[in-house]
Amino acid sequence: MPNIQQYNFTYNNIHNTIRNTAKAIAERGYEPDYLLAIGGGGLIPARIMRSYINRPILIVSLSRYSDETGTAPASQPIKLQWLETDIDLTGKKVLVIDEVDDERTTLEFTLQHLFESHPGAEFSAFVVHNKKKEKKGKLPEQLKHFFVGEEIEDYWINYAWDAENIDMFGK
Ligand code: G4P
Ligand code: MG
Repeated sequence: MPNIQQYNFTYNNIHNTIRNTAKAIAERGYEPDYLLAIGGGGLIPARIMRSYINRPILIVSLSRYSDETGTAPASQPIKLQWLETDIDLTGKKVLVIDEVDDERTTLEFTLQHLFESHPGAEFSAFVVHNKKKEKKGKLPEQLKHFFVGEEIEDYWINYAWDAENIDMFGK
């Protein structure tokens, strides 16, 4: 019997979920000026989204760990790299992208800091998967739109990009 407490999301699953969301985003009439990936998990989803919403990709990178060995969890995410850009984001619409909304800690932290560092920009967010559960973090009130690719149960997700042997993934 398959273990139903986990999801295996293949590249094709993820690509199709993002395609469907891009369609829903277009139908809502939302047209971002920039995509912004939250690294590392949001990098591949942002690049796939660009195939449907062809806008430049900005990047921030966060760590949940406070030491270099990656074993001591930090009480809140740490900015490894923040948004430094020559572009003036005043009045621009930015779609922030991550792979999963789990406890919402990363999303709350990132969005709050983006609103602080770029007060003139309009931020929306897209996550490929949202786990249906009680969240620790909150979405900021100023967030314009929140797009979810797929609402899922609170099970562990295996993403194709985490596979050590991609040919055996999900088999
Ligand atoms: P959230 O705030 O984005 O909801 O995530 P949270 O901090 O609660 O989760 C901590 C880390 O665990 C995040 O990675 C998140 O992507 C990852 N995570 C949560 N649930 C799953 C899951 O079901 N499967 C996988 N593969 N990862 C999960 P991170 O610290 O942002 O690391 P990175 O991969 O983005 O570098
Ligand atoms: Mg992440």
